[in-house]
Amino acid sequence: MCGPVEGLLTALVVAFGTAVAFAPIPRITWEHREVGLVQFHEPDIFNYSALLLSEDEDTLYVGAREAIFAVNASNISQKQREVHWKVSEDKKAKCAEKGKSKQTECLNYIRVLQPLSASSLYVCGTNAFQPICDHLNLESFKFLGKNEDGKGRCPFDPAHSYTSVMVDQELYSGTAYNFLGSEPIISRNSSHSPLRTEYTIPWLNEPSFVFADVIRKSPDGAEGEDDKIYFFFTEVSVEYEFVFKLMVPRIARVCKGDQGGLRTLQRKWTSFLKAKLICSQQDIGLIFNILQDVFVLRAPDLKEPVFYALFTPQLNNVGLSAVCAYTLSTVEAVFSRGKYMQSTTVEQSHTKWVRYNGPVPTPRPGACINSEARAANYTSSLNLPDKTLQFVKDHPLMDDSVTPIDNKPRLVKKDVNYTQIVVDRTQALDGTIYDVMFISTDRGTLHKAVSLDNDVHIIEETRLFQNSEPVQTLLLSLKKGRKFVYASSNSGVVQVPLAFCRKHSSCEDCVLARDPYCAWSTSTYTCVDLHEAQGPSRAWIQEMSGDVSSCPDKSKENFRQHFFKHGGTAELKCSQKSNLAQVVWKFQNGVLKAESPKYGLVGRKNLLIFNLSEGDNGVYQCLSEERVRNKTVSQLLTKHVLEVKIIPRTPVTTTLSASQTEGRRITPRMSAASSLESSAPTPVIQATTPIAVTSPPKPPPTSTSCEPKVINKVPQLHSAKTVYLKSSDNRLLMSLFLFIFILFLCLLVYNCYKGYLPGQCLKFRSALLLGKKKPKSDFSDLEQSVKETLVEPGSFSQQNGEHPKPALDTGYETEQDTITSKVPTDREDSQRIDDLSAREKPFDVKCELKFADSDADGD
Ligand SMILES: *[C@@H]1O[C@H](CO)[C@@H](O)[C@H](O)[C@H]1NC(C)=O
Ligand SMILES: *[C@@H]1O[C@H](CO)[C@@H](O)[C@H](O)[C@H]1NC(C)=O
Ligand SMILES: *[C@@H]1O[C@H](CO)[C@@H](O)[C@H](O)[C@H]1NC(C)=O
Repeated sequence: MCGPVEGLLTALVVAFGTAVAFAPIPRITWEHREVGLVQFHEPDIFNYSALLLSEDEDTLYVGAREAIFAVNASNISQKQREVHWKVSEDKKAKCAEKGKSKQTECLNYIRVLQPLSASSLYVCGTNAFQPICDHLNLESFKFLGKNEDGKGRCPFDPAHSYTSVMVDQELYSGTAYNFLGSEPIISRNSSHSPLRTEYTIPWLNEPSFVFADVIRKSPDGAEGEDDKIYFFFTEVSVEYEFVFKLMVPRIARVCKGDQGGLRTLQRKWTSFLKAKLICSQQDIGLIFNILQDVFVLRAPDLKEPVFYALFTPQLNNVGLSAVCAYTLSTVEAVFSRGKYMQSTTVEQSHTKWVRYNGPVPTPRPGACINSEARAANYTSSLNLPDKTLQFVKDHPLMDDSVTPIDNKPRLVKKDVNYTQIVVDRTQALDGTIYDVMFISTDRGTLHKAVSLDNDVHIIEETRLFQNSEPVQTLLLSLKKGRKFVYASSNSGVVQVPLAFCRKHSSCEDCVLARDPYCAWSTSTYTCVDLHEAQGPSRAWIQEMSGDVSSCPDKSKENFRQHFFKHGGTAELKCSQKSNLAQVVWKFQNGVLKAESPKYGLVGRKNLLIFNLSEGDNGVYQCLSEERVRNKTVSQLLTKHVLEVKIIPRTPVTTTLSASQTEGRRITPRMSAASSLESSAPTPVIQATTPIAVTSPPKPPPTSTSCEPKVINKVPQLHSAKTVYLKSSDNRLLMSLFLFIFILFLCLLVYNCYKGYLPGQCLKFRSALLLGKKKPKSDFSDLEQSVKETLVEPGSFSQQNGEHPKPALDTGYETEQDTITSKVPTDREDSQRIDDLSAREKPFDVKCELKFADSDADGD
């Protein structure tokens, strides 16, 4: 009996970071603005918790706090109707008297939104802790004013769990029956035969309701079975004892034809049975015991419905989630043939639940009335023998558990708390059928996952909401030509297409996505959605294995020409969306080594080349390498042709770029840079994996000194001068520069002396005036003052973030080493180094980055 407890302890160990498994990374992350999702939200309306598609699926009904909307299901931003349902002032006052918040709790949260007939909906709301239900007429979009008591159908407290399903105009629901939420109930709201659960611990023990749905009897069912309503919830276990309350996930079911008992179980379910759901990673003893959501997958090619259930472990400090799938027949076998559990009293008051091995009365307790029972004259639950009823009253819990398909989870994922799941079954081009799981998170994202060769592939992650907020509800619409996932949160509703095929711009990208919805069209050269695509399938390429060899050769190569100034820094861009790929840079066909002081990477993609010289001229290629089924797929993304030009530099830029690499030796450095004497470092050519070393460039600095972009953008402007300079004596240029620089310094010193300049300059000034100046530090002080003159204080502090350091503190000589000597081993590390280098970098490096950003054409 201690199995699950051990499992939980293991979960803790895993949670503390020993396991690195379960980390399938979404291949692509779509940002919210990048995919432009259609949204619906109304000003001052929150808590969009209930979604319902109309029968013809042309309208989506949205239940929010104190309001219900009808929107166009094809474009949810088009509101069609709305009705408000507010709490009366006296009810609000009463609610506040009971100690509830007037602003947040004493409102009407819509919790039940179910179809009642073709022309009306059944709606219930918490109504300031006095739940009510009403009929919403769809013609007039007005409530009929029935004001039915919502007790048992809708929770009192918006924080309480609830679930409901409408079956043949009767509402089946699971929620709390009282104000405190201490009386849980699974009930049927029916005029002729209302039924409910017994209020005892063996029936329901502090349950948290998750989902309910009806499974209709099979039309060819020979046994004359009944329609069954299944409930999913997590409750405190009675069968396991532990120091804390051990939760167990349950599936319970009742029969639609149940009428209750005549004497025993009067107006109570005679068919209520429940069983434990198992979802565990047995090899490491990891148990998932908290149910989050359930989806019933039904498809014409499936011979029976499949329950997809989403779980988390009870102690989930790292965010582990799992999906397990169960077939209906496994569930039914447990209820119709499984053993029951029985409580026995040991040591006086202590009860223990054990397997019941004694005789079971007939008809079988908890079974629906079938042809066999009818043949024995038990035509209704009302005439079932007392023995059977008493037995089911005492033994609602099955000893057998419901095991998942393949006895293991379909998906286990770390670092995420999944909230909701829907599943679509789709056929790939080669005829293979895939169950595509759409799973939402508590951070406002949606993952699309599919099982590929016994592995989970998360095709993409979509940021559904601007804010990182939990997704409350997911709803799948599969109407032909309009397949969407609708997702709702506290702030609104979004409409998400099942695939973003068109976002893949090349055949390789389209194939590597391994998305069963997407295929490359060789006639239109686009990645198309198979459901929308027309024409002969011969013209499409889709390889779920990720094999790109059938893609046509890239006829048109991406190639960009750039000019950069000598001694500066170049940034070459490369765009790569896949989180599973690595960017590799090649120069003249040799792989570049990022650790060399010559190169750096920005945002793991863009290449930085420092201290440009003519030796850097040539072709740079950006390739992506992606591991697909233990093979590395390499593809060329971009080609850059770089040309270094000698351009006369203003003293300003010279100071900045020179100080980056050489620190205090300004004057000699400047002359070297401008006279082509600097030895062009030979590119290091080694096969290593490039690693992110710097953070992406920040927004452009406001200082004018950081914007010599113009120079790079229009190299032609300077080409004449360049030619001139090349052919003439460099000393002329040098002395010219020296002259301008000295003039500039004089001006600066004068201004500083006059006290026109702030900060460090004042120190310098006072030091100068007091005659305490140390000979060693004068140049740095001078340089400091130069910088402070050139860079506005505002932009300086902004760039340094929370660590506004004096620019000179870092020591420029070691700057390159700091960036490149560390080899981060994983993503986190490189992220840390990104942050580190971003923080510790003096501001003028930022200027250089900006300076280097000469890529006029962008991406
Ligand atoms: C309703 O939405 C508000 C605003 O997002 C949120 O703070 C609150 O927790 C939500 N309440 C419930 C019961 O979901
Ligand atoms: C998941 O939820 C747990 C508990 O609510 C929280 O501690 C953890 O930070 C969450 N993890 C993620 C990745 O959201
Ligand atoms: C069922 O009831 C009918 C009529 O009331 C009776 O004739 C028949 O013998 C009964 N069958 C059994 C199995 O008790």
